[in-house]
Amino acid sequence: MTETSPSIPVRIAGTGSYVPEKILTNAELADRVDTSDEWIVTRTGIKQRHIAADDEFTSHMATHAARRALEQAGIAPEDLELIIVATITPDTLTPATACYVQQNLGAVGAVAFDISAACSGFLYAMKISKRLISDGAFKNALIIGAEKLSAFVNWEDRSTCVLFGDGAGAAVLTRAEPGQGEILATEMGSDGRLTHLLNIPGGGSACPITTQNAGEHLATLAMLGKEVFKHAVTRMKEAAEKVIERSDLKPEDIACVIPHQANLRIIDAIADRLAVPNDRVFVNLDKYGNTSAAAVAIALDEANRTGAFKRGDHIVLVVFGAGLTWAAAAVRW
Ligand code: COA
Repeated sequence: MTETSPSIPVRIAGTGSYVPEKILTNAELADRVDTSDEWIVTRTGIKQRHIAADDEFTSHMATHAARRALEQAGIAPEDLELIIVATITPDTLTPATACYVQQNLGAVGAVAFDISAACSGFLYAMKISKRLISDGAFKNALIIGAEKLSAFVNWEDRSTCVLFGDGAGAAVLTRAEPGQGEILATEMGSDGRLTHLLNIPGGGSACPITTQNAGEHLATLAMLGKEVFKHAVTRMKEAAEKVIERSDLKPEDIACVIPHQANLRIIDAIADRLAVPNDRVFVNLDKYGNTSAAAVAIALDEANRTGAFKRGDHIVLVVFGAGLTWAAAAVRW
C-alpha cells in the first residue's frame, strides 16, 4: 500500500477485563503500615485493590481479559494477526508476556510482542496497532494492558503501597466497515528528562538484584508523587485536547471520558480543565487502585459493559505514566 492510499478505518470490536479474586482493603493496609482509610480515600479516592495469587502471573490475567474481548468481538484466537501486551511487570524479562498469551490462547498465526510505556502502554498499543491495521499490514489485533504490580511494590513504604493493584484489560481492534464506529484520532508523547520521577530502579541491567542488595527493595516502585501529579494534569489535558480537536469534536460532544485511574484528584482536575462534567467521566479506581497499563483498559471494558456510552457516542481515553509518557485516543463507538 502506498502512502497516498486512503487509510483503512479501525474500530474497537470487543473489550474484556479481569481482576484477581483477592481484595486488599484500606483497613487491611492500615494494619501493615502507618496509614488510614481516611488518608487514602481523601488523597487518592482508592478504597481497595485486587492482588494476584503467588502463582497467578501477568500473562494469566492478560489471557482471561483477552478471552473476554475476543468473545465479545466474535473473533477466534487463531484468526488473530497481532498481539501487543503493554506491561511493566512482565512474567519474565524475556520472552515477551505477549508470547505467553499467544501460547495460552493458541493464537498460532499472530505476531506477539510487549511494549513498556508504563500506565500509557495500552494507548500506545492502540496507536501502533491502529496504524498497522489502517496501513493494511494486519486485519485485526489484540491489545492488552496487564500488570502484577503487587510483585513490585515495597509493602513497607506507605507512600506507594497504598496506590497500586493488579489486573488486566484487553481490546480487539479490527477493520471498520462503513457505518461502524472508528478510532478517530490518537496521540502519544514522552519526556525522558523526567525518568527520575517514577521508576523501578533495580532488577534491570543497571542495577541487578544480588545477595548483597536484596534487602534494599530496589526492585520496587519509587515515586516523587507531588511532581508526578503536576505533570499528569498538564500532559493529560494537552493530549486529550489534541485528539478532541483532530476529531472535530467539542467538549459537549463527548459522552464519556475514560482517564488513567491513578488519583481521583487528578481525574477531577482533568475533567475541570477539559470542561467535561464529572458525570461523564468514568471512575473505577475506588475498586482497583492504580493498575498501570491495565487501568484504562479495565475502565474501558467496564464502561462498555455497563452502558456508560452507546453505539455512535464519542469517547475520549487519556493516560499518563512513568517515563514520563502520556497518550490519548478519541473514538466514535
Ligand atoms: N498514609 C498516611 N500518610 C501518608 C501516606 C499514607 N499512605 N503517604 C504519605 N503520607 C504522608 C507523608 O509522609 C506526608 O507527611 P508529612 O507532611 O508529615 O511529611 C503527608 O502524608 C503528605 O504527603 P505528600 O506526598 O505530600 O501527599 P500528597 O498530597 O502529594 O499525596 C500522592 C500523595 C501520592 C497520593 C499524590 O502525590 C499523588 O497521587 N501523586 C500522583 C501519583 C500518581 O498518579 N502516580 C502514578 C502515575 S501513573
